[in-house]
Amino acid sequence: MSDNNLLSPNSAPHSDVEDIKIRSNYLRGSLEETLQDPITGSIPEDDNRLMKFHGSYMQDDRDLRNERQKQKLEPAYQFMLRVRAAGGVVTPEQWLMMDRVCQKYANGTIRLTTRQSFQLHGVIKWNLKKTIQEVNEALLSTLAACGDVNRNVMCNPNPYQSEIHSEVYQWASKISDHLDPQTNAYHEIWLDGEKIIDSQDSQVEQEPIYGRVYLPRKFKIGVAVPPSNDVDVFSQDLGFIAIIEDGQLIGFNVTAGGGMGMTHGDAKTYPQISKVIGFCLPEQVIDVAEKTVTIQRDYGDRSVRKHARFKYTIDDRGIDWFIQELTNRLGWSLQEARPFHFEHNGDRYGWVKGSNNKWHFTLFIQNGRVKDEEDYKLMTGLREIAKIHTGDFRLTPNQNLIIANVSSQKKKKIEALISEYGLTDGSHYSALRRNSMACVAFPTCGLAMAESERYLPTLLDKIEPMLKEAGLQDDDIVIRMTGCPNGCARPMLAEIAFIGKAPGKYNMYLGGGFSGNRLNKLYKENIGEAEILESLQPILSQYAKDRQEGEHFGDYVIRAGYVQEVTDGQNFHA
Ligand code: HEM
Ligand code: SF4
Repeated sequence: MSDNNLLSPNSAPHSDVEDIKIRSNYLRGSLEETLQDPITGSIPEDDNRLMKFHGSYMQDDRDLRNERQKQKLEPAYQFMLRVRAAGGVVTPEQWLMMDRVCQKYANGTIRLTTRQSFQLHGVIKWNLKKTIQEVNEALLSTLAACGDVNRNVMCNPNPYQSEIHSEVYQWASKISDHLDPQTNAYHEIWLDGEKIIDSQDSQVEQEPIYGRVYLPRKFKIGVAVPPSNDVDVFSQDLGFIAIIEDGQLIGFNVTAGGGMGMTHGDAKTYPQISKVIGFCLPEQVIDVAEKTVTIQRDYGDRSVRKHARFKYTIDDRGIDWFIQELTNRLGWSLQEARPFHFEHNGDRYGWVKGSNNKWHFTLFIQNGRVKDEEDYKLMTGLREIAKIHTGDFRLTPNQNLIIANVSSQKKKKIEALISEYGLTDGSHYSALRRNSMACVAFPTCGLAMAESERYLPTLLDKIEPMLKEAGLQDDDIVIRMTGCPNGCARPMLAEIAFIGKAPGKYNMYLGGGFSGNRLNKLYKENIGEAEILESLQPILSQYAKDRQEGEHFGDYVIRAGYVQEVTDGQNFHA
């Protein structure tokens, strides 16, 4: 397409966000001025749209909203800042920087996200620049952590079969670098970079892949290494499944068209799992990623944002159309997909020894929130570990943390710190809790309809006695919760899921596949805690009695007729 798909005023009607992007001069907008405006802690809506590309959302503390309104104060505006690292791999120095900036500029906690990024909450406008500068000094970035571009590339973080995992990780990193936006705006606004263009002349600078209007919506890529599907590869717009033969990485199966978000009551929006479309060699992944992104750039729906994700482009035009278009752009064809097998999408906790003789400890971090509490000094413990650790840290796609590549000599010292601070691998919890995830929701997320991170642990406290009674404490069952149907914790793939509808009310879903291979289905609508517990209790006890050898909960509820199997996203709604 000419001029990188620059939308002209005469093209089909496009959404207001497209106009903002066109006018933004490659993501600059008026951010530089509005960030300095001393009158308000907020920025105008147009700039907020652009802020996402720079890795931040403007939010306000919803716990304080009413009180501040009564006092005629503006909402307690603050910014969420997302710091990305491909595959979630960071050095101890980078960990210490995150710890430092979260104390200095944010709310003193770090959130490990479901896409292996960090989130800081509560940064005020006037501290954003300093925070972003410190993040960049440590060689991490917030650029493209949100926005209509390729997001953090996820990758199986397990360092156990170290050579293969590190090879796969290198490819994930390369894809990520290749798809970074090229605009100099980030450097100019945050890092005092030299202004390389006349701001009136936006033709001088080009985005070779994205073009001037970027993508119609966000784009997500994940790389899985079977038998673990921890990255939930089928939830990604584009996925790569590593194929290993005789201990060698021979290439990747390619998946296309997954995505989680939907709107309650709108059957035109639905979650979708991706389809396996073929196989490519390792050195072909970047080309496949780039061409797929350009297809979505050129054909994605720019008029209705709710219909703009790649999954709808594929569903509307057909997977065969996509494969043909991809082949045309690549100039070669994918090979036939290779066999693969996933066993689970959760994490495996505790110490394991990798093939490089290094040790790895996976810590259970409830909902990814790293903070110090009266009786659990998680943040301090991790800080002390980071000070002596010579390996790395890995953020898992399940919001947990691996203290990775610990040498045999260092293991004793790290073990001593783990026990001094009581850091847990979760083994004293139920397996249900160890397989749980919740999105942030209240008080920061402006889209939340119900609590999630602050509520799921309490709900689990009430479900755990039922598990005990049924003898299911040690059975892995995947449970996820989000505060709205955007699906940030990928609830649509869980065996049991709750998606917020209104304060204290959730839609309950059952029947996701244990390895992230099948969507779940609506079981009950708009229910509160009492009904949630009443609904779950008999199903859990029946499952304990009637399940077949090795049968997972998600499979059982379908066989027992509680819900029907979802065979395609559009059949997801009741
Ligand atoms: C229309 C769709 C979506 C919108 C508007 C949206 C918006 C947001 C917002 C505002 C937050 C910040 C919450 C906070 O930290 O206070 C957030 C968090 C997050 N979102 Fe989304 N989101 C959408 C869909 C998704 C989906 C489908 C995924 C992945 C499957 C996702 C992944 C994440 C992640 C990883 C976080 C970080 C927090 C966490 O791990 O819980 N988002 N999203
Ligand atoms: S799922 Fe909804 S409530 Fe939860 S973080 Fe995402 S947008 Fe917010």
